Amino acid sequence: MPNAELIKKINELRKIRNAVILAHNYVAGEVQDIADFTGDSLELSIKAAATKAPVIVFCGVSFMAETAKLLAPESTVLLPELSAGCPMADMASADAVRKLRAEHPDAVFVAYVNTTAAVKAEVDICCTSANAEKIVASIPADKEIVFLPDQNLGANVAKKLQRQMILYPGYCPTHHRIDPAQLEAARKQYPDSPIVVHPECPVAVTALADAALSTGGMLKYIRESDAESFVIGTESGIIHRLRKENPDKEFYALAPAPRCPNMKKISLENVLEALEQMRYQVELPQALIERARLPIERMLAVK
Ligand code: 13P
Ligand code: SF4
Repeated sequence: MPNAELIKKINELRKIRNAVILAHNYVAGEVQDIADFTGDSLELSIKAAATKAPVIVFCGVSFMAETAKLLAPESTVLLPELSAGCPMADMASADAVRKLRAEHPDAVFVAYVNTTAAVKAEVDICCTSANAEKIVASIPADKEIVFLPDQNLGANVAKKLQRQMILYPGYCPTHHRIDPAQLEAARKQYPDSPIVVHPECPVAVTALADAALSTGGMLKYIRESDAESFVIGTESGIIHRLRKENPDKEFYALAPAPRCPNMKKISLENVLEALEQMRYQVELPQALIERARLPIERMLAVK
């Protein structure tokens, strides 16, 4: 079916279902374009928590749809493609966290929002890449911290705050494989372009960049910058939004361009199917919802 026809059908159905469509900055451009709201993990969580819509179509990966369900338990949350997961979130299990708890009974457990609801239920507080420094800084200095599952985000925060943390050995395959040599090559090719990367990149990479920011942070940095061009060191789906919002600025992806195969599983076709068939509904037991939303609410309460 041509895109125009898919969009027409989506627009008819979203009205009938009274649905809100939320999309992460990494999904395909044509999906971002039909969303009611596009944002980073923190912004999407805040939107989900505030919505009164009975149906949320979540265009992103499963931990994000789960987070929306935790914050909007009365809404039906639909993930258009069941297999759109996050390999980093899958690297940490609730069992592994319980075992670490037994080893570090006095530690504060901080979980990146890129975790399953079962893992969130075991931790003290969540963070996203947009607020990780603020959340860690809010924990008393004499407290031991276990940070999971992203060793790179953890190491970047630890370096910035000069604070030791126990780091769980998880990583995002898309960002972990970004190599310092790619930044050196980009710097040579585009000497006047600031290089902006995501803090899921290793410290050796963020050290060479001009800024390491969440996807929402990157959008703000670029909007406010006087530079005319930028090198983007994160999932290249964000370049669609950057070009749309900054038509006078130029954007170059690192070579090869970082790509998250799971984010790319969301399409106009499966968004339409989600609305037609009311699938795939995020279902979480009530007791799990109650436990897993606590660390997210604690995160949202940190000023
Ligand atoms: P942001 O919260 O910065 O959008 O990042 C989410 C993510 O999955 C990065 O890989
Ligand atoms: Fe997960 Fe990485 Fe994809 Fe983000 S880019 S959803 S962390 S695999």
